[in-house]
Amino acid sequence: MISDEPLVLGIETSCDETGVGIVRGHTLLADAIASSVDEHARFGGVVPEVASRAHLEAMAPTIERALADAGVAFTDVDAFAVTAGPGLPGALMVGVAAAKAYALSLGKPLYGVNHLAAHVCADQLEHGPLPKPCVALLVSGGHSSLLLVPDVTGDVRSLGATVDDAAGEAFDKVARVLDLGFPGGPVIDRMARDGDPAAIAFPRGKYNDGTYDFSFSGLKTAVARWVEAKERAGEPVPVADVAASFQEAVVDVLTQKALKVCKDNGVHDLLIGGGVAANSRLRALAAERCERAGVRLRVPRPKLCTDNGAMVAALGSELLAAGASPSALELPADSSLPIESVLL
Ligand code: KG4
Ligand code: ZN
Repeated sequence: MISDEPLVLGIETSCDETGVGIVRGHTLLADAIASSVDEHARFGGVVPEVASRAHLEAMAPTIERALADAGVAFTDVDAFAVTAGPGLPGALMVGVAAAKAYALSLGKPLYGVNHLAAHVCADQLEHGPLPKPCVALLVSGGHSSLLLVPDVTGDVRSLGATVDDAAGEAFDKVARVLDLGFPGGPVIDRMARDGDPAAIAFPRGKYNDGTYDFSFSGLKTAVARWVEAKERAGEPVPVADVAASFQEAVVDVLTQKALKVCKDNGVHDLLIGGGVAANSRLRALAAERCERAGVRLRVPRPKLCTDNGAMVAALGSELLAAGASPSALELPADSSLPIESVLL
């Protein structure tokens, strides 16, 4: 019976999205988002202080909207969950302080959770319980990680990560080189549809280095140099071909390494999350390579891929069901929280 399950409210403020999600058990009831992305656009990237202020302004209205969408009252909430890290310190602090205030005033437990583990959990709201174990590829503006997930409530292992730029950051920086605006991912995705992914052989960093790590800064520099050379020669820049060739280099490495983790660990389920998971070519190539490798692929719908409060509520709900002890009221915001700490 759905109505017997606990009602969990999740708060996410690690970057530029103020997210408030409400779940009952595994059922998503509300997923309210206020984004400050437009306020960062002219800077070409997220400005931490601007993001923190925007969270402060958006917090109470976004909570109100989520409660109204779910058709529940504040006093119906059984537990709160909040992203405690990793993320921007000031931005995280706004969410953690708000969650403490709500939990304390209502006398309800609070779970301070890991942002990356929450990304993994998001897919459960759409495709049901996660297979144990599964492999997760999390790619966004702030992180690019390959995780082995035996149990998302307590056993998440980092097998690889970017050694420099995150995948989404590379999309954003290349979009800036091509004068396409911010955020860069969606527009590069669109432009690439009219381009030839084999037009330019951009480097695939760390492709066959035997690790599960990524590197995208060399690729970003290679794109910038290539575009500069064209401009110096007074030739037009074939933007669609550059976008398609750059995008192909990113998704080739991401899918190759993700499937290597699956193969090396005998895992047959791959989950992709984070903002870059919205990329149409990443989805297509992952589907093709997973099918060839006999791996089942799970990618949640775009709204559950980008930062949101629903994923935090989903992880809070899992922790509650697993009987985990709530966080202490001294719960800190930890900007570099390691993935091994699912719950703080
Ligand atoms: O998960 P997210 O909303 O926030 C964090 O960074 O944590 O991800 C945003 C990132 C941005 O870098 C954006 O350019 C990228 O995801 N992104 C995409 C696409 N949509 C968003 N990258 C490639 N293709 C897309 N369609
Ligand atoms: Zn994220």
